[in-house]
Amino acid sequence: MSDTSNGDLSQPVLPGRGASDYERYLRTDELLSLQKTPEERVHHDELLFQTVHQSSELWLKFATTEVDEAASNLEQGQAAPALRLLRRAVLSLQYVTNQIEMLNQMDPWEYHQIRVVLGHGSGFDSPGFRRVPHVTQRVWKAFDRLLADAGLELTELYQRGREHEELYQLAELLTEWDERIWVWRFRHYTIVARALGEQTVGTQGTPVQVLGKLIAQRQLPKLWETRSRLVELFDAERGGE
Ligand code: HEM
Repeated sequence: MSDTSNGDLSQPVLPGRGASDYERYLRTDELLSLQKTPEERVHHDELLFQTVHQSSELWLKFATTEVDEAASNLEQGQAAPALRLLRRAVLSLQYVTNQIEMLNQMDPWEYHQIRVVLGHGSGFDSPGFRRVPHVTQRVWKAFDRLLADAGLELTELYQRGREHEELYQLAELLTEWDERIWVWRFRHYTIVARALGEQTVGTQGTPVQVLGKLIAQRQLPKLWETRSRLVELFDAERGGE
């Protein structure tokens, strides 16, 4: 953190709780009190479970904020800043996917002790994930508009990507964003299957098998359809030789 005073540098200058400016700025008191205390935990692994979920929510908050801001940039016709924001969002989803691995460290029998204190809590109510479809549709609409302004179909953009570098990079980052959501869903499904099995019904009544079916869902299907269309176009061109 940078120095903003000329006095004793060991003393805090920011307002708020905490003995140092580090604690005050990051509000570590509040942050570190958001997990159950050892006395409140029904099982030691509750800290692991809460840490993975809470940090996922933070990264998802960040990722969806960046996608939303990228949409604003695109709505104003600015592709370059949107590229940087989308890269960050994609990276955030990678973190969320990587850290879910930690839940494989829970013993499936012992996990049931945690499951019973979750009430009707379900990932369907994750604020972070609930925001994903909204920001994704907003950024897609803005991108689609830019494409139309350039007089291009998506297939044409992919056929002549080098002539429209920024638009091409945007299309690829949006593909990666969608791909990362897909990979997260797949990884989440396998972790749920390891913890609960595939024949079980979740805390909010959803059969685990439904999660398996959701893996096939795409947020931005046009990007994937375009790839199939490119195969047809390429083959048709070759057939015409
Ligand atoms: C052992 C770990 C986990 C188990 C056993 C588990 C279990 C489940 C189950 C059974 C569902 C279906 C809905 C229900 O009835 O509850 C679900 C959905 C969901 N969970 Fe988890 N979950 C785990 C970890 C996580 C983590 C770390 C996150 C990250 C925030 C998460 C986010 C979600 C989301 C977003 C859904 C909605 C599914 C979708 O839209 O594809 N879950 N989970």
